[in-house]
Amino acid sequence: MNLKGRHFLTLKDYSPEEIGYLLDLAADLKEKKKKGIPVDSHRGKNVALIFEKTSTRTRCAFEVAAHDLGMGTTYLEPAGSQIGRKESIADTARVLGRMYEGIEYRGFGQEIVEELAKHAGVPVWNGLTNQYHPTQMLADLLTVREHFGRLKGIKLVYMGDARYNMGNSLMVACSKMGLDFVACAPKEYFPAEELVEECREYALCSGGSVTLTEDVEQGTRGADVVYTDVWVSMGEPDHVWEERIRRLTPYKVTKAVMDNAGPEAIFLHCLPAFHDLKTAIGKEMSARFGITDMEVTDEVFQSPCSKVFDEAENRMHTIKAVMAATLGD
Ligand code: CP
Ligand code: NVA
Repeated sequence: MNLKGRHFLTLKDYSPEEIGYLLDLAADLKEKKKKGIPVDSHRGKNVALIFEKTSTRTRCAFEVAAHDLGMGTTYLEPAGSQIGRKESIADTARVLGRMYEGIEYRGFGQEIVEELAKHAGVPVWNGLTNQYHPTQMLADLLTVREHFGRLKGIKLVYMGDARYNMGNSLMVACSKMGLDFVACAPKEYFPAEELVEECREYALCSGGSVTLTEDVEQGTRGADVVYTDVWVSMGEPDHVWEERIRRLTPYKVTKAVMDNAGPEAIFLHCLPAFHDLKTAIGKEMSARFGITDMEVTDEVFQSPCSKVFDEAENRMHTIKAVMAATLGD
C-alpha cells in the first residue's frame, strides 16, 4: 500500500482497503509506543498546523505524533498568521509548501482545505471542517475494532445533529467499512440526501447499511456503539442553542438508551462533551435553560461502557499513521 503524497481531506477519497491499512499502521505504531520502541523515521521533516478553530485533542495529537516521528511542528493560530485576511489560501499554501513537508488545517468550509491541498504541493490533512472530521473517524474505527475485534456488522448509532461534520463523517466511515450506521435525530437534522445516497452506494459494496430514523427506541435497539457529539458546533451562532436543546433533548444518551442498546454496547463521543456543569458553557446553559447536562448524562459518560478516553488516545496513534503514510519514508 503506497499512500505517499496523498492528501487526507475526507474518507470519501479513501478505499476500504486504504482505510484498513491506516488502521493497521496505527495499531502497529500504538503497540510500538507502548513498548517504548521509537519510530522516529521522519527526522528532519517539518509540518505546519493551522487552527482557525480551537482544539485540545487534534492539536496535541498532531504535535505529539509529529514529535514521536522525529518531526518539527509550527502551530499557527488565527491571530498569529495572515491566512485569509492579508493573504489568500492559495498563496498561503504555496508559501507553506516551500517550507513544510505537510500541512494540517482546521477551520470552516471544506472548500478551504481543498484549496490548500490544490496549491500546497505537499500532503494536506483535514483536522476538522464544518463538513468532515476524517482523522476523528480513524480513531473511532480503531477504538471500535479494538473493542469488538471487527468492524463489519457493528451497529453504530449517531444521536444528535447528523447534518454536520460528525454525522457526515461517521456515515461515510461506517458505510465504507461495512458497519450498520443509524442516524437517530429529528428529521430536519438528517444528513443531506445526496451524501446519504453516496453512502448507500458504499454500503452496497461493503455489506453495511445506512438508516435514518427519528425513533430513539427503534434506532438504538441492540446497538453496539452509541455515539453523540455536542449539540452546537464550533463557529455556530449563539442563538441556535435554544432550538438545539429543545429539539435534541429527546436524543440525549441516557441510561435508558444504553439499556435499550446491546448488552455489550459501548458509548463514544469525539469530545469535548457537556455531561456536567464543570465548564463555562455548561454553567451558562444551566443558568439560561435550567439543564444539568446536554448530549449525554454524567451517569453514562462516567460508566464502564464509556470508552471516550481510549478513543481520545487513539487520535494520536491514528494521526501518526496518516502522517507517516502520506509523507512516506
Ligand atoms: N475531537 C476533537 O477534535 O477534539 P478537539 O476539538 O479538542 O481537537
Ligand atoms: N461537531 C463538533 C466536533 C468537535 C470535535 C464541532 O464541530 O465543534
